Amino acid sequence: MNKSKVLFLVLSVLFVGLIGYAAWQDNNARSYISIQQTYINQYHAQGITTGVQQLFPTFSEASQGGSFAFPNYKTERCISCHVPDIATINPNTAAQRISQDFFKYDPNAKQLQKQYNLTGHHPAYINAQLCDTYGPSAYATSDGFHSYLGTATNSQGVAQLQAANLPGFLPSFLCDSLKPGQQLSIGEVGCIVCHNGNRLALTQSDAHQNLIINPEYSWSAGAAIYYEYCISCHGIQGGGGVGPPLNNQDRLGFYNEDYYYRCIEYGFTGFEHYGSVMPAWGSIASDFTYTPGRDQASMVDGGNFAAFKAHYTRKLSEQQIVLMTQFIRHWENYQTLP
Ligand code: HEC
Ligand code: HEC
Ligand code: HEC
Repeated sequence: MNKSKVLFLVLSVLFVGLIGYAAWQDNNARSYISIQQTYINQYHAQGITTGVQQLFPTFSEASQGGSFAFPNYKTERCISCHVPDIATINPNTAAQRISQDFFKYDPNAKQLQKQYNLTGHHPAYINAQLCDTYGPSAYATSDGFHSYLGTATNSQGVAQLQAANLPGFLPSFLCDSLKPGQQLSIGEVGCIVCHNGNRLALTQSDAHQNLIINPEYSWSAGAAIYYEYCISCHGIQGGGGVGPPLNNQDRLGFYNEDYYYRCIEYGFTGFEHYGSVMPAWGSIASDFTYTPGRDQASMVDGGNFAAFKAHYTRKLSEQQIVLMTQFIRHWENYQTLP
């Protein structure tokens, strides 16, 4: 073969490859359509045609500046893949199907169930009972429900004993507005008030960015870890002290779960936190070497990094750290969510 033939062949192969990739990407981006089709077949769902499905939350915080028009209105597209006909079916049925489909279609369902303590019973309503347990006047405490005193250090380094009253994750704009006996269905409030995530994205990985998988569990189990290990520096309610505030909306809106994971896993041994007193709760970053002048000697056995490394042990498991990234997300305000 002469050179131009070889070139032609190489270019043809590349071209075919590119078309294949574009088609794959398109399929991937439109995977919600096949998920909907499966749903329609499975439940003999009537009255929906496959396509982007939108949910319009009925509370006023979903509109910004009083506008009910896109993009000021916080529509959600989670239902393009999950219970696409939620507007027309009974909320209890919708809740049942959410769980049922998860266990049927998520290839990691069993492992996720264990990791996030999933009961298989999805809430159908936000009502007075749920608000009592997870609302603004319910407090996450180290053992679940009793008031708890924690030592927090203020920015001047003074330790103070304070009552740790971390309010529940259900927003007050929902719970406080509930009239006696009233309840709001998941079809009315949508998904992101509890789960965060990216409300407009139409691929699974984009939509699930910064997702809180089991809000009830991450809030209570996360608080127990937070009170034990983090409160002393990051404050009773995430407001900061020796460490920066974790409830800072600018940072929550900007940084993703991978960033938070690294912060907690590597602490001062991760490049983002060199020189700080943020402990490593997982492992020592593989590229970390103690650098006097930059790092604090007190963090590595008074400067004896070899000794520090030799006896270092992980304090939180990878799963616990993932839990903490989701726990911290509970501080993200509804209006900060993408
Ligand atoms: C492109 C499709 C798609 C979109 C959009 C989507 N999901 Fe999912 N989601 C899935 C699939 C598929 C599963 C696994 C099977 C199931 O649960 O039906 C899943 C599972 C989940 C789980 C269980 C945990 C896990 O990671 O498997 C949660 C919670 C969840 N989704 C919430 C949401 C929320 C909230 C939104 C909107 C912000 C959303 N999803 C948008 C496809 C999607
Ligand atoms: C009131 C808070 C709340 C709302 C609103 C909410 N969820 Fe959930 N979600 C939960 C809780 C709590 C769990 C864990 C349930 C369990 O123990 O299995 C969960 C779990 C899930 C799961 C994993 C399967 C399961 O049942 O465990 C999926 C998928 C899911 N939610 C999707 C959604 C979608 C889609 C919406 C919006 C239509 C939504 N959720 C609205 C609280 C909520
Ligand atoms: C000894 C005090 C101390 C303790 C205990 C501590 N932190 Fe920190 N943390 C810090 C300091 C200081 C920083 C800021 C690091 C920097 O400036 O680079 C920080 C930073 C962070 C950040 C990054 C914040 C951001 O917006 O960039 C996260 C996330 C975090 N800590 C989580 C935790 C968690 C979770 C725990 C408990 C498991 C914890 N911290 C325990 C001192 C502490």
